[in-house]
Order: sequence, then C-alpha cells, then structure tokens
Amino acid sequence: MWGGRFAEGPSAIMREINASIPFDQKLWKQDIAGSRAHVAMLGKQGIVDADDVAAIDAGLARIADDYAANGVPVDPALEDIHMTVESRLAELVGPAAGRLHTARSRNDQVATDFRLWVRDAIDAVDAGLAAFQHALLARAEEHAATIMPGFTHLQVAQPVTLGHHLMAWFEMVRRDRSRFADARTRLNRCPLGSAALAGTGFAIDRHATAKALGFDGPTDNSLDSVSDRDFALDYLMSATQCALHLSRMAEEFVIWASQPYGFVSLPDAYSTGSSIMPQKRNPDAAELVRGHSGRIAGCMVALTMTMKGLPLAYSKDMQDDKPPVFEAHDLLALSIAAMTGMVETTRFVPERMRAAAEGGFSTATDLADWLVREGNVPFREAHHITGRAVKLAENEGVALAALPLEALQAIDARIDDRVFGVLTVDASVASRRSHGGTAPDQVRTRIAEARAALGAAA
Ligand code: ARG
Repeated sequence: MWGGRFAEGPSAIMREINASIPFDQKLWKQDIAGSRAHVAMLGKQGIVDADDVAAIDAGLARIADDYAANGVPVDPALEDIHMTVESRLAELVGPAAGRLHTARSRNDQVATDFRLWVRDAIDAVDAGLAAFQHALLARAEEHAATIMPGFTHLQVAQPVTLGHHLMAWFEMVRRDRSRFADARTRLNRCPLGSAALAGTGFAIDRHATAKALGFDGPTDNSLDSVSDRDFALDYLMSATQCALHLSRMAEEFVIWASQPYGFVSLPDAYSTGSSIMPQKRNPDAAELVRGHSGRIAGCMVALTMTMKGLPLAYSKDMQDDKPPVFEAHDLLALSIAAMTGMVETTRFVPERMRAAAEGGFSTATDLADWLVREGNVPFREAHHITGRAVKLAENEGVALAALPLEALQAIDARIDDRVFGVLTVDASVASRRSHGGTAPDQVRTRIAEARAALGAAA
C-alpha cells in the first residue's frame, strides 16, 4: 500500500506487531458498509465516475456475501480489515478498486468502523438489559408481599419484601440503560471524511455519508475525529458500571444460596455439582458474573492507559483500542444473559426468608416509632427504651412480640397493648408506605409504573 516510498518489505516481527487483522476482522460488516456509503457519495459528487462506482459497489457487496458465508480470510501481510477488503476488491474489479480510497484515510475509516461497531454493541446490551428488566418485574410482582430481611452491614436491619429488593436491582439496570443511551448519543457523529487528520481538498459531502450510515451528522473537527476514542471509553465505563451492578446482584445470589441462608434454591440449569462432594450445588454462574466484572473493569483500565498522553492526532497505539472493547462486550453480554436466566428460574424460599426476617429483632424500629407516635416520646428516648426491650428479649431468648405486656410496661409505662399491632414483620412492612418504601402496595405501584415506562420505550 506504500510500496512507492519503500525499497524493502517489513520484517516478520514488524508484520506481527503491526497486524490488527487477527482481531479487527470483527469490523468487516462496518468496514464494507462505510466503504459503500463513501463510494456512493464520491459518485454523487462527481469525484469517481458512475461505472467505477457501480463496479466498486458490486465488488463490495460480493465480498460481504463471501465473508458472511465463509468468514474473513486472515493474512497478516494485509495488516488490517481495511487492507484485507481493499485488496480483495482489487482482485475482483481491477484498477477501479484503487479509486475507493479517494478522499479518505484508514484513520477516519477505522474511527468510523469502530463507532458503528460500538453502536451495535450498545444496542445489543440495551436489548439484553431490557429483557433482564422484564424478568425482574415478573419476579418482583410475584413476590411483592414476600417478607425477607433487609440488611445493613449484612446484619438484619428491618423487614422488607423480596419484590422491593428485586426492584432495587431494577433501578440499577434502569441507570445502566440510561448511561448506555447517553454514550450512544455522544457516539453518533460520523468521522468519515476527516481523512488522515486535516480533512480533504476533494468536494466531498460528509453530511451524506453520515446520514447513509445512520449518524446524526458529521463530526466537526478532523483532528479530533481521527484521535477520539471517547466513544469506546464511554462504552467501557458504562459496561464497567453495569458489570459492578451485576456483580453485586451475583454476590447476593451466592450468599442467598449458601445453606445457612437458604433463601434461594438455584435451578440445575444455572448451578454445577462437585466431582468429589456429591451433595454440592454450586452457584458457579453467579460467581462467574462476579468474576467477569473484574475483567470488564480491567478492559476499561486498559484502554484508559492506552489513550493517556497520546498527542493529536492518530497514533498506532490506538490500534490497541479494539481488543478490550471486544472482550468486555462478550463478557458483559454473557453476564447479562446469565443473570436474566438466574432471575427467571431461581426458586425463592419464602419460609426461610420470613424466618430470617423474624429473627434479629427486625421490628425494633417499629417499637420506637410507635412510642414516638402514640406516646409522644422524643425519638432519641424511644430508641433508648426500645434498646432495653431488645436486651430483655435477647436475655429471654424470645422475639420482641413475644415479651409479655407487663415486662414492656416495666421498662416504660407509656406502652400499652396496641403496641403488638406493630411488632410483626407484616405490620412493619405494610406500614412503610412512603414513596419508594417497601410496603407491598408501594412496591406494586412502582412495578406498574416501571412496566408502563418499559412498554413505552419498547
Ligand atoms: N489498523 C489500524 C488501526 O486499527 C488502522 C489505521 C491505520 N492508520 C495508520 N495511520 N497507520 O488503528
């Protein structure tokens, strides 16, 4: 491609370090789409004549069919996907193929191809996350009133419902989708026609190619266009945040599936056995989602480090942008699918959850709140009185609700038998009707709103 200036070819090592075709072959569809848009525009602008445009376009269409059927041939001598396609085009249509690269460079070409690929990746992730949200809504609806312990510091804190907990996960996913949507909006400008770095003297129409490729318009600075990889970093940062959420959910599955908890029984389809301990049922899928999140964050750091300190405009370091994005995308797509499957198929064990919620004096706050409401006791004092009641119950080895009225009245005479109405886990949960609270009617309202919003977006 640059034989005019060079007397000798590259060494084998140069060829190997220089080649991106082993991984950028993934961009073949985007590369061909970009070239077809470019050559059509060159024809319209009278830069390449109609016969050559037709020959080039037919050749590109044929290459696309061939790659779809047989895969991309990998020849490291051809360096990257751009040269692989162009050299094949030359074999198919002869010297006219040489006109395709008019008014462009591989620098704007790769920036365009990669944006198109990342855009598709965002759309695929978004579809996966939407399916995950539907799974969460279905299970949350089923368990809108199923009592479980809510934790802080992983200590039983107050009773909540499983539906409320699953809707907390839903909110995390809602933010993830909005983060990817933001990334997509910023991504969707077309660098094609920025050429090597300075733009071109040919009378090209960048608005036309941008439109043909589904972009909102062309980018506005040619130097920035060929050196910008923010879109890839935006993707990786959004992916990292999403993976962190999935990892936290996965961790809860791991805890819940552990025998001392027994909150869930994982289905055969998402667990594995042990080759030595016949009784084992391991939450491997959840553990791998948790593990993959670390690798995804690693991909984000890898590209961050690659880009750090690069001067304008293109530098070959940037060829290393693709492997971390490809790797993170595969890991994230699989993690979303695995979490969706687990949420859809896990058997929750309400009896175990309720028993755990009834332990740990989880309604102590309700007793304190009752003293404030019914006895006009300042909250700090109510907290203290309740602490003494908890201590007594602990010494007696009973739940708060099982303490005799006389024992409670000995602690504070303002307590009367109406207090027992607030000490059960069901009463506690039902009372938490503040917006976003855990009362089943609140949870059901949030589910209905979420479902409507999802439907409207779809
Ligand atoms: N394979 C290259 C990459 O992925 C294409 C751009 C090459 N540009 C250059 N000036 N050598 O970055």
